[in-house]
Amino acid sequence: MSAEGQPILEIWGRASLRGEVQISGAKNSALVLMAGALLCPGDCRLRNVPSLVDITRMSQILTALGVKLNQNNDVLEIDARQINPTKAPYDVVSQLRASFFVIGPLLTRLGMARVPLPGGCAIGARPVDLHVRGLQAMGANVRIESGMVHANVTGKNGKLKGAKIYLDYPSVGATETLIMAATLAEGETKIENAAQEPEVVDLANFCCQMGARISGAGTNTIVITGVEQLHSVNYAVIPDRIEAGTFLVAGAITHSEISLAPVIPQHLAPVIAKLHEMGCRVVTQERDRLQIIPGELRATDIETLPYPGFPTDMQAQFMALLSLSEGDSAISETVFENRFRHAAELNRMGADIRLKGNHALIRGVPFLSGAPVMATDLRASAALVLAGLAAEGKTIVQGLHHLDRGYDNLEGKLQQLGAKLQRINPQSRAEDFRRS
Ligand code: UD1
Repeated sequence: MSAEGQPILEIWGRASLRGEVQISGAKNSALVLMAGALLCPGDCRLRNVPSLVDITRMSQILTALGVKLNQNNDVLEIDARQINPTKAPYDVVSQLRASFFVIGPLLTRLGMARVPLPGGCAIGARPVDLHVRGLQAMGANVRIESGMVHANVTGKNGKLKGAKIYLDYPSVGATETLIMAATLAEGETKIENAAQEPEVVDLANFCCQMGARISGAGTNTIVITGVEQLHSVNYAVIPDRIEAGTFLVAGAITHSEISLAPVIPQHLAPVIAKLHEMGCRVVTQERDRLQIIPGELRATDIETLPYPGFPTDMQAQFMALLSLSEGDSAISETVFENRFRHAAELNRMGADIRLKGNHALIRGVPFLSGAPVMATDLRASAALVLAGLAAEGKTIVQGLHHLDRGYDNLEGKLQQLGAKLQRINPQSRAEDFRRS
């Protein structure tokens, strides 16, 4: 089962969940805010930071750049007074695409940056051309050599210049890189066709609290007026809408009534709309609490899109849910080119999913059966856990390093709701065996 000696997750299906789950801070916000802290030559205090392998990797990158970090539970103190803009380590950057975000703050604050290219990943090639073209429009010289992006700003004061940038695609990462770069640039930067994701707005709010001048975040046109310097900040990361969405699907797929808090219900609007279409009710109980009331699941069609469209990061979880819904559904994945690898694993559990290019056709089946499955990326791993909770019998999920990248204590939270699952570390099992 665990041929490579990696931990596995055993899940006993037909779970019935109950209670309330605490939603952690948003991974994608926390990662970019950590990079954004490089803009500030003082202390940044981030609250509500989730406990994740991706956050640890970002911390390693900041440390390599000379930043002092101090973590206490969900509070992360970042002191970026002294930084060396050339020290981002390849081995960590290559494992964490978000680490490329450091290029914007380094370049705008210090006039130079050297950051390894993040490379492809399991869900597609994921180039950084939009980040690079935007920085070039702001006057940066960018050279890519031996897998390394060398960027610098020449001229008297070594400062980026405000520019009008139209993004060919509303890339989340490129919008964030350019917002950060523009905060300390000379003059005004206008980003058109900008990403509107809540995490982009969170970054803009964070930068504004450090003294940046940004308007329009959350719309497709963002205007940033550069300032001389940013200052210290104490800031709470927004709740993770993808973790919250995953728990809503956990309720729907196990026919369980569960509540989640804290959440920002508006951030989940496209996910809630699909759950309604599928026969579930999602009720806002207080300003920041949602309850899912499950129903008989009906098929529906989904197309992933930039926000406020349906999030690609919820596509895999909904594929698991649609597998158990009455009727035929279709999913079109328009954001990433290779994000259906979970389909084959769900089929191993008895799902009926056929793939055609970036379309998946899902014929609902009455039940799934537990099976050994392999997680292929972060959200795919969540989809397999959800399928395992609903399936008959035992499911064994391998490839847990994907899950650990982006879910803060998923097993513990599911156990609290009454799910039966446990992580097994084959090494400790072997040691127990030797000791006995
Ligand atoms: C972010 C999220 C990720 C989410 C994605 C889309 C983080 C850390 N990750 O990723 O969880 O799935 O948004 O909501 O915030 N592209 C280019 N050139 C570029 C940049 C992007 O072609 O320079 C393409 C990508 O390959 C992809 C599409 O644009 O096909 C969307 O990517 P983007 O919005 O940039 O996603 P990320 O910021 O990488």
